[in-house]
Amino acid sequence: MHLVHTIAEVRKFAGEARTAHKTVGLVPTMGALHEGHAGLIRRAVQRCEYVVVSIFVNPTQFASGEDLDRYPRTLEQDRRLADRLGADLCFAPSAAEMYGAGFGTYVVPGALGDALCGRSRPGHFRGVATVVSKLFNIVGPDVAFFGQKDAQQAIIIQRMVEDLNFPVELEVLPTAREPDGLALSSRNVNLTAAQRSDAVCLFAALRTAFELITAGERSADRVRERMAERIAAAPSARADYIELVDAHTLAPLTALGGRQVLIAVAVHVGATRLIDNIVVDLSEG
Ligand code: PAJ
Repeated sequence: MHLVHTIAEVRKFAGEARTAHKTVGLVPTMGALHEGHAGLIRRAVQRCEYVVVSIFVNPTQFASGEDLDRYPRTLEQDRRLADRLGADLCFAPSAAEMYGAGFGTYVVPGALGDALCGRSRPGHFRGVATVVSKLFNIVGPDVAFFGQKDAQQAIIIQRMVEDLNFPVELEVLPTAREPDGLALSSRNVNLTAAQRSDAVCLFAALRTAFELITAGERSADRVRERMAERIAAAPSARADYIELVDAHTLAPLTALGGRQVLIAVAVHVGATRLIDNIVVDLSEG
């Protein structure tokens, strides 16, 4: 596997792969790779003949006061893991390489970017859509791999691909979890032991929602109340949002039947903000 830091080098290697008629896969990440990322890379290696893993803690998707400076950076470890999993190229640019002097053009998602995480993180999805567009243009992948863990991100990127005619197919893979249900996240390393045990409240609240809905509950408010109680029971947790929305449009729901429902939570556990979600398919009733 090659590790490169410049756009020119990626263009050279990915261009050679395309000339050799290899299918090119891209796994965009911010590094601090864990088993969730590993699943995406494994799937990319299985499906594509040339796999690029990008590692870039993208400053434009962090607002000031967020955890850009605190975000874990483990490039050497990440490089070894990507190599072991069979990736062909690791692209780890500097912020200056991606955002040169005078940078001023952004990709701004529509209303999808204002829902859920967009409300508490204004501008976040503008940063995500911009950097992912740049990565698509730099690498030129046939397929790009994303995680359901960041459901709203995957929906926004799919919309962007259709709206802006990027010639790339997206594949979204299920959320990888710890044995107790906590979704794997690069931010989990920031949790103290007490916060780590409280952090299970996200998945516990989602499971509560699933059980209520499976038992026939169709009121979004009643489900939300029970989820809020479960999160409030964790001393270091403070809910940012608990939402039940249409899984395609992200429109808030009051009655749950007749569609796929995305149940999404964002919770501050101590100083660390965590997100998780499940999709419940009620399209049959
Ligand atoms: P990052 O948080 O590093 O995640 C990179 C990819 O891994 C995303 O597609 C994310 O959904 C996926 N992922 C993270 N945790 C996962 C888990 N537990 N199970 C399955 N997949 C998981 O998402 C980003 O970086 C950035 O916003 C990025 C798209 C790279 C743009 O900067």
